[in-house]
Formats: sequence, C-alpha cells, structure tokens
Amino acid sequence: MARGLPWEAEQLPACELHGAPLSGEAVGALWAQAVRAGSFGGGLGLYCHIPFCASRCGYCHCFSDALKRPDELSDHLRLLLTEISLWGPTFARSRFTNAYIGGGTPTLLPPKGLALLLGAIRSAFRFTDDAQITVESTPRTADANRLAVLRAHDVRRLSLGVQSLDRAVLARADRQWQTFEMVERACLNARRAGFPIVNADLIAGLHGQSVASLIADAQAVARLGFDTIHVYYFEPNKGAYDGRGRLGAAWRRRRQAMLAAVGPALAPYGYRAIFGETIYALREGAENRYDFERYFRAGSILGLGWQAESHAFPGTNYRHLSRQSWQESLRAGRMPPVRSYRGGPDWEMREFLVFRLRQGVDYGVFRRLFGCRPQDAFPAAFRALRRAGRLRERTGFVQAVFGSQLEYLAVTLHFFPEESLLRALSMRPSVQTDGGRESPVRRGSRPEA
Ligand SMILES: C[S@@+](CC[C@H](N)C(=O)[O-])C[C@H]1O[C@@H](n2cnc3c(N)ncnc32)[C@H](O)[C@@H]1O
Ligand code: SF4
Repeated sequence: MARGLPWEAEQLPACELHGAPLSGEAVGALWAQAVRAGSFGGGLGLYCHIPFCASRCGYCHCFSDALKRPDELSDHLRLLLTEISLWGPTFARSRFTNAYIGGGTPTLLPPKGLALLLGAIRSAFRFTDDAQITVESTPRTADANRLAVLRAHDVRRLSLGVQSLDRAVLARADRQWQTFEMVERACLNARRAGFPIVNADLIAGLHGQSVASLIADAQAVARLGFDTIHVYYFEPNKGAYDGRGRLGAAWRRRRQAMLAAVGPALAPYGYRAIFGETIYALREGAENRYDFERYFRAGSILGLGWQAESHAFPGTNYRHLSRQSWQESLRAGRMPPVRSYRGGPDWEMREFLVFRLRQGVDYGVFRRLFGCRPQDAFPAAFRALRRAGRLRERTGFVQAVFGSQLEYLAVTLHFFPEESLLRALSMRPSVQTDGGRESPVRRGSRPEA
C-alpha cells in the first residue's frame, strides 16, 4: 500500500491523467522497452494480487471479496499462472529486487496452491540474492503447513494482519473470529518456520477504538516480538464500514492522538519509527522492500492479478481494464488490456517529492533517478516554499518544514499545477466498469470516495 502521504493527499494523484486503455501487446512493448533500457527506477518489484478472503471485515478498503465457492480461488490461481508464464520471457534477463503477494488473503490458498504460485514465480522470474519476498496473511490462515511452503520458496517476510485485539472493536469490524491466542499461535508458527521478518499490521481509528485500546494492542503485539509493527491510519474510503468514506473532526483528532501515542508506547520495547512514519522496527533492515523501493525510490512494479497496480518507471501507472477482460484474455492465452491512470516523467517527480519531502530528499538520489535537482525541476514551487519558510536546506539535501498533516498537504500542493489541482477538487477518481466497481488508486485497495 501507498505510504507516507497525509491521507487527504492520496486522493490527488487519482484525479490526474486518466489515460486511454492500452492493449496487452502495448503493455508488453512498454515493459520490453524498459528492459532494453535497463531503467526501472530504484528497483524492480513484482506484485501478485489474491482478491479473496474467508470473510470481509467491515473497515477494509482492500480489493477483495469473501470467497463464495472454492473454484473461484482455483480459477484465479490458474489465470495468474498463465499471466506469470506470459510475462516470464519479457523479463528473462532482468532481476527482480522484491516481490509482494498481497490481497485479500493469499494464504487462503491451500499449501499446494501456494507451492504452485511461488514455484511459478520462482521459475519465470529471476531475483537478486537479497530480494525480499513478502506474503500477506491473516492469523487464522498462518498455519504451520502453509508457512512451511512459503519458507521452502524463500519467502523472507510474512505480514500478519492483526488490526486490533480489542474484542469490542473486532466485533464492530465483523472480525470477531480473531482471538489473541490465534495471533500468538500465528506468530509462533512464523518463528518456528524461520521467517527472517515477521510484521504485524494494526489500524488506528477503527470504530469503537480508544487511544488506550490501541496502545494496549500495540504493547501486546510488541510483547510477542514482531520484527516490525505497522500502524495504519484508518482510511474510511468507499469500501469501508458504511461506505460514506468520511471521518468527523472528533474522530480525526482521536485518530491523530492514537498515532501520536503509539511511538512512545512502543519505545520501551525497543521499537523505533522508520521512514518517519508509523512503522516501528526492532532493528535496521527489517523494512518492507516493496514499499521502500516503490514509494521512496520510485521503483517499478509489475502487477499481476486482477486489480494489481503496476508502475513502469518513469511515470506509467496502470491497472487491468476490467475483471472480465483480464479473465477472457488470459483464458485465450493473451496479455490482458490495461488502463493507465496517471503518468509521465513529470508526474513521477511530483509523486517522488510528495512522498519524500517529509523525511527529506537527497539530491544525489533525485539526480540518479531524474537527471536534475528538484529545485531545477520545480523552480517556482521551491521559490514559494523558501519564501514561506517551509524548506530546511543543507548541501545536497532538502526537507519540508511542517507542523501538522494539513501543513504538509499545503507544502506538497505546490508541486501540482493549478489546472491539475482544480481538476482534483472537482473530479472523482477514474471510474471503470466492472459490475459497478470503481478503479482503486493504490495496490489492491478500494477506491477513495
Ligand atoms: C490487504 S490487507 C491484508 C490483511 C489480511 N488479509 C488480514 O486481514 O489479516 C493489508 C492491510 O491493510 C490494512 N487496511 C485494510 N483496510 C484499511 C483501512 N480502511 N484503512 C487503513 N488500513 C487498512 C490492514 O492493516 C491490513 O492488514
Ligand atoms: S482485512 Fe484482510 S481479511 Fe479482512 S477484508 Fe481486508 S483483506 Fe480481507
């Protein structure tokens, strides 16, 4: 998932540059060109989407459906295997630096299905020696058999969704099936299976949650010794709870108070915030490489599976056109068509600055990616921000100065030309047709309202 933006700002990129549909052949040619140029930005990742769960949680914005029949999952897997085999030759001489199998719930696949998927990925694509492969799981599907299969395919990072341990919060979230004992057992299974990195996701701002309940959850998870704890802002977009996608001011303040309290509560357990975000790690090197390379290094991502987000550096972002065309194309052995939803090298630079200015931008990194310094690419924005005292600068480095999420949003808005801002304020994110579904703006997530 996208990280690092104040959530309000995440809506902006979605409103920009909805491209025309591209045929599967055109997407193939686009990647072939990137492969020839060897230009993938700060890494080459693979994202594989499994859009099914055993049941839906009320708050969830991820693109997934409750599984109605087991053959939905096996059909999806079969098509994914075809998609993997179609892409393999294009990347025969490239090395992927990370892979992320996300959902939904990838560990809904039985051990045999997981072995087929990971085996196909391993044989179609080559990876760097230190490549990080992550699989997302729920506590109830992280059993010893499945985890053994993941480790046998050198999956190095397991991400467990915990969300909350508070029974009342879980009940309101339709996640009453989850117990603390289940989380504890999943964590133990992961340790026994030998995952080098085990992450727990929590969410701040769920219905019925208080600061005290989030802090108790964070500390309970810390006592289990997870390598990283990712505390998400609750994002009430269209797929979540009542579907209205709005937070009241009091709710926002409570969410902010939760996020402010969690760092100090985790510090005595040895956790430190990484990337200047609400991601806490026990040690260095435990970060999520998919996120780091994609969002902090403008890395490329080849997205597979209906609703996966792809990003071909510089500045091409796309998703499959529709579920139906994804299925029909793959059944016929062809690459599926896609729709790009924002793009251009210029956009890539803006996005990079929006993600990075919070923690600071190193000119060397920016120049390696874009061939210039940020102030040369956006002189007017830099002039205005300097005048407003919003930049902290030292040799080869610039960082935004801000006191709140809203102020950070105001800083980042300087990088959007007026006309794109006006469109952002008056338009909704791109809409595509698939049984009434709209195209989400982020990896595996549901659309913003
Ligand atoms: C694709 S989900 C996979 C989680 C896994 N299926 C589970 O339930 O344990 C990845 C993460 O997105 C986060 N997430 C889901 N809905 C969210 C929302 N509305 N706001 C913020 N984070 C959310 C959750 O923390 C979740 O663990
Ligand atoms: S939180 Fe996980 S299990 Fe619940 S609906 Fe979202 S992806 Fe599915």
